Amino acid sequence: MRRATFKAKVAAAGAALALAAGMSGPAVAQDAAAGRAKAAACAVCHGPLGLSTAPDAPNLAAQPAMYLATQLRAYRSGARKHEVMAVIARPLSDEDIQNLAAWYASIKLEATAP
Ligand code: HEC
Repeated sequence: MRRATFKAKVAAAGAALALAAGMSGPAVAQDAAAGRAKAAACAVCHGPLGLSTAPDAPNLAAQPAMYLATQLRAYRSGARKHEVMAVIARPLSDEDIQNLAAWYASIKLEATAP
């Protein structure tokens, strides 16, 4: 049952990715606005502002762009293994990855001591 839900989410993400790809014009490397548009496909799990909405998905907001890009490339190449993120990362170009990383890195977060 949980698997079906997961598959549905991945399918929805794929559709959103296709949509974002269709909408984006010629993009510039590390374009946070283009990354934001592309990140519509990620929001179902990672939240619209990178604070995850799925219990097994990590927050992406305010993470260093270099870290995010490295992880996405690792999922794409298979160096970092995860069934869902492999499917998500496979169609991403280097430019997509730079833009997505720039978007999530640009989100401002405030940490407060407990
Ligand atoms: C169906 C749910 C789902 C969708 C959609 C999704 N992710 Fe993920 N993502 C996950 C999960 C679950 C993990 C944790 C995987 C692991 O354990 O390695 C993860 C991990 C990541 C990580 C590693 C974070 C870290 O702290 O190491 C990055 C970066 C990431 N996702 C980016 C994206 C981007 C960008 C998109 C959209 C293009 C996206 N994800 C779409 C579920 C999702």
